[in-house]
Amino acid sequence: MERFMDMHCHLLPEVDDGAQSMEDTKQMLRMALDEGIQYIVVTPHHHPHRGKKPPKVLRHQLKLMREEAAKIDEKLRVYLGTEIYYGQDVPDLIREEKILTMNRTNYVLVEFSHSDPYEYICQGIRQIQMKGYEVILAHIERYHCMCDDIENAAHIAEMGVKIQVNADSITGENGRKVKRFVKQMMDRNLVYCVGTDAHRPNVRPPRMKKAAEYVQKKYGEDYMRRIFFSNARRIMLKRRRRDESGQSNT
Ligand SMILES: [Fe+2]
Repeated sequence: MERFMDMHCHLLPEVDDGAQSMEDTKQMLRMALDEGIQYIVVTPHHHPHRGKKPPKVLRHQLKLMREEAAKIDEKLRVYLGTEIYYGQDVPDLIREEKILTMNRTNYVLVEFSHSDPYEYICQGIRQIQMKGYEVILAHIERYHCMCDDIENAAHIAEMGVKIQVNADSITGENGRKVKRFVKQMMDRNLVYCVGTDAHRPNVRPPRMKKAAEYVQKKYGEDYMRRIFFSNARRIMLKRRRRDESGQSNT
């Protein structure tokens, strides 16, 4: 069976608008496993309305979640990151470790408002890059300025940004226009990794299999493995030190 890595989801319990209880989390972990998702980066919101829990709380919840994941299947690996809603104070908050990077690497998953203008998105990304961080742009297909002009997305990739798309956008669950845009992105090799952006067992559950099958059919097995697994693993498991659970990440 294929193994996938989910780079963006809200499976960490009771910290944002994602999993509301450990029961939700466990149910979604089982769903993920059924889908072939063995590596999961939980990315709770740092967002003015959707959640903003301090790192200490997030790490505690991670510990509890890992205990449950181990009971479900020893193959499951859970790492902690954040989905950061961009604001001008964000780069300093990351520096001060008030917002967590992705699995303690220098990669950060950043989102913007759907209607933010292209220039604003570029400036925000540059501001974060200038502080020494690598940006993964969350669900690029949601931003109107990108979806309306793929050259903007191509420019973002040229800036060194890693581009994440949601699995359900690949399969058309977010409309035909979004599906067509994501297809054009893949045609031009602009997609770096995939996330489920799963929130609850019944609200955008963690599904990847259907999207991976579609990509494999259209673009071949190697390409599918790159965007569903190996690209993400390369950047997430980069650091040499051991993470908090004692699991070696190298
Ligand atoms: Fe999200």
